[in-house]
Amino acid sequence: MVEAGLAKATVAISSYRHTSPGAEAIGLRTQGLRYDNIDEARLPRVAEDFLVASRTNEWDRDGALSVMDYFADPMIATFGRLDQDSFLEGRTYALPQPNPIGMELGESVLRRRSVRLFTGDSMSASDLAALLIYTAGVTGEAEVPLTTGAHEKYYFRAAPSGGGLYPVELYVAVINVNGLPKGVYRYSPRRNVLVEHGRAMSVDELAASISTPDDQLNTRGAAAILLFGATPWRSMRKYGPRGLRFVFHEAGAMSEHVHLISTSLGLGSTDCSSFYDDKANLALGFDGQFRFLAHMAVVGWPA
Ligand SMILES: Cc1cc2nc3c(=O)[nH]c(=O)nc-3n(C[C@H](O)[C@H](O)[C@H](O)COP(=O)(O)O)c2cc1C
Repeated sequence: MVEAGLAKATVAISSYRHTSPGAEAIGLRTQGLRYDNIDEARLPRVAEDFLVASRTNEWDRDGALSVMDYFADPMIATFGRLDQDSFLEGRTYALPQPNPIGMELGESVLRRRSVRLFTGDSMSASDLAALLIYTAGVTGEAEVPLTTGAHEKYYFRAAPSGGGLYPVELYVAVINVNGLPKGVYRYSPRRNVLVEHGRAMSVDELAASISTPDDQLNTRGAAAILLFGATPWRSMRKYGPRGLRFVFHEAGAMSEHVHLISTSLGLGSTDCSSFYDDKANLALGFDGQFRFLAHMAVVGWPA
């Protein structure tokens, strides 16, 4: 009879043996069983397949041609214009001047810690503006020359993006922010405004898609949830499946901006990946494929 705690530890160690071959399982060898459970015969190995499919190789002419396309006039012009999101419909809300970030970067880095419990107090619109602008706002521009002698204007944002394609769009679910009705908004970097995207009900539906109980990750007491909405084809059109790697990479870079800015402003934040995708996408009106919720960060006043 194997002691229950030891049995669980053995299972856990076994499941890591593939990535840490030095980890020795004792007694129970469930690794093979676990592999069988996700074997092709029953389920496709999508994660491993994705890693293989998104590799680049020096002989990959398809990839090279696709990337080359983006240095020619039509693509330069296309991407100069794609950011002009004037097609976004909905009431727009101007943002106030962002609250200045006073804290030294080194101090923010050392102080940052995931904060999951919040006081329920409201956040100022200037704090929200700082989170949005310093995460996804336009911070620079360049004139890119075309072969015709004309130029196309490019806009650069606070967080880096593969090829400057910006496949991750920043949305915010406002729970308790001064001067902004509860609802979901999309941040427009070019216009530096919030565009209404979903009503108060969408915020409740989104919160209900989070699987962590509220006493552990207290969204009800939070002021806002920053939402990283991804349009993967913006990168995949150029980089193929590798473009999807960029989407996750960039959502991570952006969420780190959110954490460091929150820390600097005295706010608290935490990453939240524990959401049910279909429910969250439905709440946001995303199809879950061409536009999907890649990640969230919950922000509020630390309790
Ligand atoms: C990609 C990612 C997803 C995460 N998802 C969650 C989550 O769903 N719920 C949660 O409470 N914390 C989540 N976290 C926070 C981690 O638990 C936390 O970063 C880790 O415990 C280290 O603690 P620290 O952030 O305070 O340094 C996530 C972190 C990352 C990077």
